[in-house]
Amino acid sequence: MDNNRAQWSSKLGFILAAAGSAIGLGNIWKFPGRAFEGGGGSFLLIYLFIVIFLGMPLMLTELSLGRASQTNIVGTFKKLGHRGYSWVGWLGAAGAFFITCYYSHVGGWVLRYVFSYALEPAEIYQNPLGYFYNMLGLHPDGTTSIPWTALLFAAAFLFLNAIIIIRGVEGGIEKFNKIGMPALFLLLLILLVRSITLPGAGEGVRYMLTLDLEKVSINTFFSALGQAFYSLSIGMAILITYGSYLSKEEDLPRNTALICGMDTLVAFLAGFIIVPAVFATLGRGEIGKGGGFAFVSLAGVFEGMPGGSLFGVLFYLLLLFAALTSCISLIESVVAFLTEQFGWKRKWTTIVLCLVMFLIGCLYTCTQAAVPLKGIWFDGVNGITYPPLCDFMEYLTDRLIIPLCALGCCIFVGWVWKPESVIAEIEQNGIRFRLAKVYTVLIRFIAPAAILAILLLSFISGVTLS
Ligand code: PFF
Repeated sequence: MDNNRAQWSSKLGFILAAAGSAIGLGNIWKFPGRAFEGGGGSFLLIYLFIVIFLGMPLMLTELSLGRASQTNIVGTFKKLGHRGYSWVGWLGAAGAFFITCYYSHVGGWVLRYVFSYALEPAEIYQNPLGYFYNMLGLHPDGTTSIPWTALLFAAAFLFLNAIIIIRGVEGGIEKFNKIGMPALFLLLLILLVRSITLPGAGEGVRYMLTLDLEKVSINTFFSALGQAFYSLSIGMAILITYGSYLSKEEDLPRNTALICGMDTLVAFLAGFIIVPAVFATLGRGEIGKGGGFAFVSLAGVFEGMPGGSLFGVLFYLLLLFAALTSCISLIESVVAFLTEQFGWKRKWTTIVLCLVMFLIGCLYTCTQAAVPLKGIWFDGVNGITYPPLCDFMEYLTDRLIIPLCALGCCIFVGWVWKPESVIAEIEQNGIRFRLAKVYTVLIRFIAPAAILAILLLSFISGVTLS
């Protein structure tokens, strides 16, 4: 069976696909908001530390696990002779499943905005926040309704995903990334220049560069940890699947550094585009009221640009690409697991899975405003709380399942499969892993201790769910 597994057709293909999985809505839709809440510069610094000391070793670990076992996320642990750790794979598969449910819906909103900027930019400019809320079913007069348009676009987005996935890894994902990723990067650079030169944006830039230690709490670490892992697509065992398609000639540490570097660069770029734009357009008082910074505050950037709505269309198209490549990686990982584990047919598995994800995701879109369903959360200070279901879905995956799965990977590799096995997997075909000793200390001691401490402390000291 192993010989029949797909492989990336080129080196660039893999890097772009893995970067494509990492770079997505997390970088542009989530990161700027988190960076703002976390105090700007202080958050950026903590985030950077987490990427370097926890994110990079974990990414390397997942890629090596996948390449060594050449199989899916649950099969990996069995194949390496440690069936007892399959729960880590199951946790990853469950996380990937739940993330896709809401991720695909936000992807649908992005698709909606491509059309919005093409057809009715003036309506967005007139009231960016109102336009966004209206799409989600909250109307200017305070009434609410089922957001049919948003749901329809989410269905279309998932349909696009299904088509690409059914065509297979090489046919779809690879071709897709080669143009989309560099184009997105270029456009971000243009938007950066526009955003930081808007009148009033300077305060935002300063905010993003200032280390305000008063704003730092254990919650900042918790938020940065969840965000970094989410953004790098780790702790979800997805890179195990991607690594399993990788040839033995690849230099894994170099690829890891490249992917983490690109992902962080895009996140920081988005932060420096969106936060200053929020300062320039909404004014400080309004900040933090609306989620969806990426949908609302960018309107001010496009409005003030010559040919702005065209840039708007282009931006949301590229964001759509980025969201698609990430969403594909999420679905692909669950599909690879289900087809290999249970012998199901790829096509039907994909179709049924997308359908179920769409339906669960409807709860996410509808609980933004129209339907008052709640989730449940617990922490040591606030006790039991009932956040809106949409927030609950995000926090469950970003802040609980992902760190737990990452912790499982650290413990498995650090203490059971052993770092030496990872190092042996990396050092094939004459490749030297210079940081092998540092890696061993990080994956055995520092990473598991840090993840566990952040998880426990944040639950004991109270988690802000907003
Ligand atoms: N990393 C993607 C993003 O930042 O948008 C989202 C994602 C993809 C999260 C794959 C987790 C994952 F396993």
